[in-house]
Amino acid sequence: MNIFRSEKLFPVIKKQVYLETYGCQMNVADSEVVLSIMSDTGFGITQDAAVADVILVNTCSVRDNAEQRVRQRISTLKNYKRANPGVLIGVLGCMAERLRTELIDKGNVVDLVVGPDEYRRLPELVESAFSGQRGIAVKLSRVENYDDIMPLRTEGINAWISVMRGCDKFCTFCVVPFTRGRERSRSLKSVVQEVRRLSERGFKEITLLGQNVNSYQDGEFDFADLITRVAEVDRTIRVRFMTPHPQDMSDSLIQTIAENENICKNIHLPVQSGSNRILQLMNRTYSIEHYLALVEKIRNAIPGVSLSTDFIAGFPTESHDDHQQTLDLIRNVGYDGAFMFKYSPRENTKSWEMGDDIPDEVKVQRLNEVIDLQQTISLRRNQAHIGATIEILVERESAKSNDEWMGRSDTNKVTVFPKENARVGEIVKTKIHNCNSATLFGTLAREPDAMSEYRLAVNS
Ligand code: SAH
Ligand code: SF4
Ligand code: F3S
Repeated sequence: MNIFRSEKLFPVIKKQVYLETYGCQMNVADSEVVLSIMSDTGFGITQDAAVADVILVNTCSVRDNAEQRVRQRISTLKNYKRANPGVLIGVLGCMAERLRTELIDKGNVVDLVVGPDEYRRLPELVESAFSGQRGIAVKLSRVENYDDIMPLRTEGINAWISVMRGCDKFCTFCVVPFTRGRERSRSLKSVVQEVRRLSERGFKEITLLGQNVNSYQDGEFDFADLITRVAEVDRTIRVRFMTPHPQDMSDSLIQTIAENENICKNIHLPVQSGSNRILQLMNRTYSIEHYLALVEKIRNAIPGVSLSTDFIAGFPTESHDDHQQTLDLIRNVGYDGAFMFKYSPRENTKSWEMGDDIPDEVKVQRLNEVIDLQQTISLRRNQAHIGATIEILVERESAKSNDEWMGRSDTNKVTVFPKENARVGEIVKTKIHNCNSATLFGTLAREPDAMSEYRLAVNS
């Protein structure tokens, strides 16, 4: 070997990439694909923007405030460029797809604009940008699913696996079909293979992701088939999924969740509104009667299941009566939790053309009523756990105290308890003593035998 060519003497100085992620879990999963692509082509990955040669921001367009946040962040990134004019700044994700050249045209901050289906071209685009050619790549694809790319994940407890991309539902308020393109699924085989590798690496929880995850289709295999095969890989791994659409919630999927112990008993079932008139204007494709029948079917098949949802307050033409129907629905279903949003008109969507006729103060008031009611119900549902012993997967230190762990039940209840002998990644029993609308508080409830066995193992 020629010693002068040894990397030890002349270390190859890799260009460093820093990546910041906004938006939904699909974006988090995409960022891991991006990091994998960049590191495979010789870039280093850094957690520190100040030392980066390439700063990437993976963005979200779902509501105007999501975009405003990113715009502000991009304008502060200018400072890194001032300090080091050689630094490249790239915008990825849904804002890149929606705004395209507008992002580059505005000032000299952004060098690259790359949409969600063009990440394979990133290394090439970055190289051209280093030689002064600003680049834009925003073609949407009918086939790209990054099936062959092993995402670069940090070790941990939870892994996110994107199993399908895009959305064909075209809810009238939503930008996703425009920023993510048409639905397409990964092969069942490659998802199962990825799960096997994650099991070997010690991941304890897997979440299957898609904007419309239960419309997954690989030949004859549907989402129920996929999740069955995923759950079989390692029964000690908990399996979750996000986000299902009520229209595609098949009987066989409900049965599969009921029958597999390691598929978590929590379903996020976005409803958006309690009024059939508004649901129709939203193009949600179900009625409240159909939705309630579905909820009943799920609750009968999966005892103890927890349900969460999404609401939009102040959709165009929403009347006082429509809003009351949303409040009625919340009381009627008794959700464990909800994400609640103020309607944000998005250019080029169908509902944009309907106008934005609900005054902001009315939207805010309705949103607050939805939030207040849901919080009361979440609290009541959490209080029902006081005195019970539930199993928790220990995830990390509690944000509020380093003497406590935070974990979640399979019904997705966030639970905080004193550390005692538990370790991250372990499933432990906790006895619940107290709660608020968002969190259960408990203490470890080990059986005496298991406890002494554990001490023995730790001491030996
Ligand atoms: N695919 C999922 C999630 C889509 S985005 C689904 O079908 O539910 C997540 C949530 O953002 C939506 O459920 C909706 O409640 C909200 N949302 C989407 N577009 C919005 C808009 N224009 N204004 C306000 N909220 C919106
Ligand atoms: Fe948007 Fe509707 Fe598709 Fe969800 S199902 S991503 S809300 S268009
Ligand atoms: Fe946002 Fe795009 Fe996800 S718009 S919610 S990052 S799919």
